Amino acid sequence: MSIKPLVILPDPVLRLASKPVERVDAPLLKLADDMLETMYDAPGIGLAAIQVGEALRMLVIDLAKEGDAPAPQVFINPEILQGSDERSVYEEGCLSIPDYYAEVERPAQVRVRHLDRDGRLQEVEAEGLLATCLQHEIDHLNGVLFIDHISKLKRDMVVKKFKKLARDRPPARTIG
Ligand code: NI
Repeated sequence: MSIKPLVILPDPVLRLASKPVERVDAPLLKLADDMLETMYDAPGIGLAAIQVGEALRMLVIDLAKEGDAPAPQVFINPEILQGSDERSVYEEGCLSIPDYYAEVERPAQVRVRHLDRDGRLQEVEAEGLLATCLQHEIDHLNGVLFIDHISKLKRDMVVKKFKKLARDRPPARTIG
C-alpha cells in the first residue's frame, strides 16, 4: 500500500466527472487500499478516487470512532437510488479543501446501490453521518464539491483563498 498525493482546490481535476469502473480486479483493489491508507494518513473519514487523481467511480469510507478497530468500506460505482425528504445538517470538510468547514444540508437518509470489493451488487440504507458522507463522496464522482452547496459569497471567498495559496506554494517537483 502507498500514500498518494491529494488533489487540492483549485485543481481542475476535482471538476472532472469520473468514469464507471468496468472490472473489479487486483489493480482496482490496490487503488482502494492506497486510497484507504491515504485517507487514514490525512486523516479523514471518506475519500473519492478523483481526490488522488483517478477519475474512477470509487470511494472509501471509514466511520469507526477513534480507538475502535478500523471499519473500511469500499463503494464501487455507487448510485443514489433515493433520498429522503427529511434533511439533516452536518458541518462538512474535505481533504481537497484543507482546514475549511461549513454546514451543509442534505437528505437525512439515502438508499445507495454499489458494488463491493468482491464485485457483488449491494444496497445500503444509510442515515446519519454515513448518509452525509456517501452524498459528499458521490458528489466528488460528479465533479461536485461541498462548497457548491453553500452560498456563492462564501464559496467565492474559499476559492479565492485557495487560488492564492496555490500561487504562493512552490511548484511540485517530480523526482525520478
Ligand atoms: Ni471531499
